[in-house]
Amino acid sequence: MSDARPMTRTIDTGDCSRRFKILAIPGSLRRQSYNRGLLEAARQLAPVGVEMQIIDLAEIPHFNSDVEEQGDPAAVALFKEQIRRADALLIATPEYNSSIPGALKDALDWASRPAAESVLRGKPVAIISASPGRFGAVRGQRALRQVLDHTGARVLAVPEVLVARAGELFDEAGKLQDEETRARIRALIEVLVTWSRSHQAELVAA
Ligand SMILES: Cc1cc2nc3c(=O)[nH]c(=O)nc-3n(C[C@H](O)[C@H](O)[C@H](O)COP(=O)(O)O)c2cc1C
Repeated sequence: MSDARPMTRTIDTGDCSRRFKILAIPGSLRRQSYNRGLLEAARQLAPVGVEMQIIDLAEIPHFNSDVEEQGDPAAVALFKEQIRRADALLIATPEYNSSIPGALKDALDWASRPAAESVLRGKPVAIISASPGRFGAVRGQRALRQVLDHTGARVLAVPEVLVARAGELFDEAGKLQDEETRARIRALIEVLVTWSRSHQAELVAA
């Protein structure tokens, strides 16, 4: 199915009584992923009125222009529609060799096309990351920011949530137990919602 829609943007009136929809995207396909675990915690911590859907990128194929010419595969069409409908994205990325996992890059490449109609353009995005190492995937976050900036997404600058030594913060069931990290995630969601709403109000006023 080719995406031949005109360039449209969902513009909210800033109406706080409407539910705010966050699409949560884990960059890892691993079942016990720490990054997925951060998103599970985020969903539990989200304030009233905020709805969070966590998706899986496993079905999204590698980006291939030949396939794109034939029309988006079903998993890609669904992914684009989920982004289109979301008020904001929350992406949790691991760091793979100082960058982001290929699965996440492929998914963003699909979503960025065709460039003039990209569902990422103007979309508010917050980034979080976890690593078992000391730096919390800081280079992965930087790489993700660079990709998103290129797509025209609006990426929240602060607060930065980098979760280092993730292996010590989750229990055996994969639940984030660390209270300080939980508080930082809660604060990030609150800022994301407020910031996205003010951006939407700006678009309405413009
Ligand atoms: C191919 C590969 C490359 C990796 N490179 C890095 C790296 O550059 N920096 C880092 O902190 N961790 C690196 N790691 C370790 C990941 O941080 C670790 O596997 C982490 O648990 C992945 O996130 P997840 O738990 O959400 O799956 C790498 C892991 C893999 C599989």
